[in-house]
Amino acid sequence: MLEIRNLRKSFSSNEVLKEINITIKKGEIVGLLGKNGAGKTTLIKSIMQLLKYDGEIYVDNQILTCKNLYKHISFLLEPSFLEYFTAFDNLKFLYGLNNKHNSEHTIIDALEKVGLEDAKDKKIKKFSYGMKQRLGLAQSLMECFDFLILDEPTVGIDPVGMKILDSQLRFLANTQNVGILLSSHELDFIKNICDRVIILERGIIVENKKISEIMSSYCIFLKSDYTEILQKLQNTSLFTHKLVNKRTQVTIAESNLNKILNLLVNEQIEIEKIALVEELSNYF
Ligand SMILES: Nc1ncnc2c1ncn2[C@@H]1O[C@H](COP(=O)(O)OP(=O)(O)OP(=O)(O)O)[C@@H](O)[C@H]1O
Ligand SMILES: [Mg+2]
Repeated sequence: MLEIRNLRKSFSSNEVLKEINITIKKGEIVGLLGKNGAGKTTLIKSIMQLLKYDGEIYVDNQILTCKNLYKHISFLLEPSFLEYFTAFDNLKFLYGLNNKHNSEHTIIDALEKVGLEDAKDKKIKKFSYGMKQRLGLAQSLMECFDFLILDEPTVGIDPVGMKILDSQLRFLANTQNVGILLSSHELDFIKNICDRVIILERGIIVENKKISEIMSSYCIFLKSDYTEILQKLQNTSLFTHKLVNKRTQVTIAESNLNKILNLLVNEQIEIEKIALVEELSNYF
């Protein structure tokens, strides 16, 4: 299990992550969502030990440090490679850093997994961003690991690449029992592949729910801005609300639908329509 306990991170006086607590089990795929600047990359860089932070991270009850990090976790951050080397030589170099033997077979296998076998002798300077993302994925697939953490792996990826990414991640989670945390703004991709999503808002986790639970929730679209009234009712914490185009949108679990509808009617709040969440974009 990967456990992040009370993680906090500030850049000077700017507190970017506040009391982050996350648990990821092996075999589980968790999506990390949040608007630009919410803190996703900062969280991932903290797990990678690239940033100093307050709090602790544990893998199987062992505290995570720079030394044991790569025994347990593989990462895909913004892909960066040696521009004047070929794809093959980059992987050979990177693989060689952690392993005594450079296995040609392992490298070719990883390139095949991401559909880059024909580009193996091409120099990185001739790669598109999407190809670099695929190569980054190939690199992260070469090692054995219990957890895989990916920051925006869908950026620049074409539909074929998306299918490859999808099937590789599913294979790792379902067959190799790898726990996966991935950030992305591609809500359909997240909805389809993840078991659970965590939503970050200005460095705070505002949601941590199973996708199935979210998809069976309801959205009540109100006719105008009822933020003030809803904030007074919020102590029930049975619902969340947000403002979209000056109209309030309330999200609730199916089991609380009747209760909340009664509450809204009692407050003489005008309802536009009620719909199943269905899409993550209705929720997030
Ligand atoms: N090295 C840094 N120094 C100072 N502030 C930083 C640094 N890195 C990130 N920040 C700030 O931390 C906040 C969170 O940034 P972060 O990159 O983690 O967001 P994000 O959720 O990954 O956004 P995006 O969706 O755009 O990738 C932002 O306000 C950003 O300006
Ligand atoms: Mg980011």
